[in-house]
Amino acid sequence: MKKLFLAACAAACLTSLPAAAQFQKPEDAIKYRQSAFTLIAAHFGRVAGMAQGRIPFDAKAAADNAALAASLSALPFTAFGAGTDKGMPNRAKPEVWSNAAAFKGKADDMQAALAKLNEAAKTGNLDQIKAAVGPVGGSCKACHDDFRAEKYSAN
Ligand code: HEC
Repeated sequence: MKKLFLAACAAACLTSLPAAAQFQKPEDAIKYRQSAFTLIAAHFGRVAGMAQGRIPFDAKAAADNAALAASLSALPFTAFGAGTDKGMPNRAKPEVWSNAAAFKGKADDMQAALAKLNEAAKTGNLDQIKAAVGPVGGSCKACHDDFRAEKYSAN
């Protein structure tokens, strides 16, 4: 699992190719970013579930999931290149491109919040994890409010 992730990461995020060069078609970029968000949500969701008492607390699982969410947090943003607004149904609003600086600011906030959650989870202290989960959730919502549409586009 770890090896697979590292291999995928070496191919996708460690190279300095321009974003467009990583994807042959806009559809590939859209699938990639939606998949990356789905994975972030799954791994962050496990830690949030423990913080909220919905999932029994397991310090190692919390640390592993927080580390994954933090590592994955850069990936979606390599896949919002020009021309990837259409190609398959997606929920990126036009403001992603017309207000790119604000979009990047929200992405940075989420990455910083997940980095803090990762540090908190490494301590194994549930109170610290609880304190760090809220800001992550807030950072997701802050971007979705401005940049994610309610409904998928037609294409
Ligand atoms: C900087 C902006 C931004 C941040 C921060 C952000 N998202 Fe999103 N998210 C988006 C956009 C834009 C889409 C729509 C992407 C698309 O459809 O191509 C999206 C889509 C999603 C989806 C749906 C994927 C799909 O298959 O349609 C999930 C799940 C998701 N985000 C979870 C999260 C979680 C969890 C966080 C916080 C840990 C988060 N997002 C933070 C902008 C953001």
